Amino acid sequence: AIESARLMGRGERDEADRAAVESMRSTMDDVEMNGTIVIGEGERDEAPMLFIGEQVGQRLPGQPEVDIAVDPLEGTNLVAKGQANAITVLAASERGGLLNAPDTYLEKLCVGPGAAGQVDLTLSPGENIERIAGALRRKVSDITIVILDRPRHDALIEAVRAAGARIKLISDGDLSAAISCAVSGTGVHAVMGIGGAPEGVITAAALRCLGGEIQARFRFRNDEERARAARMGHTDEGRVYRTADLAPGENLVFSATGVTEGDLLHGVRFFGGGARTHSLVMSYQTKQVRFVDTVHMFDRDKPPAVRL
Ligand code: FBP
Repeated sequence: AIESARLMGRGERDEADRAAVESMRSTMDDVEMNGTIVIGEGERDEAPMLFIGEQVGQRLPGQPEVDIAVDPLEGTNLVAKGQANAITVLAASERGGLLNAPDTYLEKLCVGPGAAGQVDLTLSPGENIERIAGALRRKVSDITIVILDRPRHDALIEAVRAAGARIKLISDGDLSAAISCAVSGTGVHAVMGIGGAPEGVITAAALRCLGGEIQARFRFRNDEERARAARMGHTDEGRVYRTADLAPGENLVFSATGVTEGDLLHGVRFFGGGARTHSLVMSYQTKQVRFVDTVHMFDRDKPPAVRL
């Protein structure tokens, strides 16, 4: 988070992503684990590090086997433009606890604990909004749906407007929006629409920790994506994946740190000699959600400047 935050507003989305990836990758080797990246920056031939299948951690005998899903920078454009809600995020679990998903799209429906178990991706947006409003004991007109602002969502936006709900259109970041709808007080109640599949798996890990729900199905753009998914075992295109299908682990942990200022997390704040970060750290097993406020003292051990 700190390394990518340094590049805020510079218009260099790839550089911001690279800074986050390199920093996360080098930190991982200090961790006492036999780690495997299951959701990462892409396939081995397209990503130099944090690619799917990469082995990370100290990898000493006896250290735990851990599967890891990373999105070192969710919101590369947001950092490049200095806009809100960019986060750095990962989920981890025992081996097999996070679905091996290809880097394609998923159609998603995400809700918080209040509406979990009440929605159904195969129903129309209007019907789901009715159900969400009923579960939360609100009027439909008091429900806010987050949707990625993309032309592919024109019909969805129309349907949500016709149902009478409010809409928050976001330019990027459906993962951080999905976490927000599971945290009361954020003013958003569901995420609908098509976004990244890797983000969907990490969303599932977060929503399992928070008691929320995601339902999702693959939306392939072409046959190459369809074939890639089939090689990973995803052959039933109509299948609706539920939260525990995407993140079945019993030992799930989740961590997100704000890069730019956001609805849920503060961004990195730099000061002379250090920085302050704000993170969300959750564990499914222990049912704990922690907000961690950390001061990083870069200059503490440097010799004091000589005054003449
Ligand atoms: P980055 O991690 O590349 O910044 O992606 C952010 C994001 O907005 C996700 O939150 C979302 O799932 C996905 O991109 C949507 O993809 P697209 O921009 O192709 O519509």
